[in-house]
Amino acid sequence: MDYEGEFLKGLIELQYGGDVVEELKKLSKNVSWAKGWPEDNKVFWNAEAFMWNNKISKEKKEVIAGELNGSKGLNGLGEERNLDLGCGAYSYVRSVGFDFSEKMLQFNDNLVERVKGDLEQELPFDKDAFASVTAVFLFNYIKNYEQLLLGVKRVLKPGGVFMMVLFGGEVNEWQRQKEVSKLNFEEWRKCLKDVGFEVESYKKEGLWFFKCVNRKII
Ligand SMILES: C[S@@+](CC[C@H](N)C(=O)[O-])C[C@H]1O[C@@H](n2cnc3c(N)ncnc32)[C@H](O)[C@@H]1O
Repeated sequence: MDYEGEFLKGLIELQYGGDVVEELKKLSKNVSWAKGWPEDNKVFWNAEAFMWNNKISKEKKEVIAGELNGSKGLNGLGEERNLDLGCGAYSYVRSVGFDFSEKMLQFNDNLVERVKGDLEQELPFDKDAFASVTAVFLFNYIKNYEQLLLGVKRVLKPGGVFMMVLFGGEVNEWQRQKEVSKLNFEEWRKCLKDVGFEVESYKKEGLWFFKCVNRKII
């Protein structure tokens, strides 16, 4: 039996609302990279990688790309050296991509470098290593988000920009099971300011944008 093929077919059914979780759990035991699905976070995201490019609409992608790259966003800084945290299978800016899912990293074709690691741990980069940092649809999945924000400040050059993008509405129930930090718009803004960023925040097309300038050196 082609367990991997059956597992991947089941994931597609799941995406369209099929009641296949228990069947997929059984199949996952015979797929080397899927053992522990869906409880194990890294394995969960490895499986999501196969569907990822269909999950975000073309319209939303265009809005995000426009805001990140435009004058209100990175304004050319990203071309210098951008770090994309939780880059997944899609980066909006050519980047050093950081993610704990090797499948996501493998499918992402906008990376100059792929770094596999856990964002709940300290970032493995030098102080002032990046001109800009991006994080799209990530922070709701990070428990130690304050520690990560301090890490972003450390690896970002003085005057560098951190762009954080979040989905304003409810994400689908399947992905929601992995959310560990649910702050509202004002709470995220306050948190970013408390870390020491100069913050400009706005909402557009159901998305939340936080442009954070690194004015302090820590
Ligand atoms: C919702 S996806 C967003 C992907 C991409 N940024 C995008 O906009 O298409 C969240 C990503 O964060 C990664 N991720 C979640 N928790 C992580 C952690 N603790 N360490 C590293 N990556 C993590 C997942 O593997 C996944 O690729």
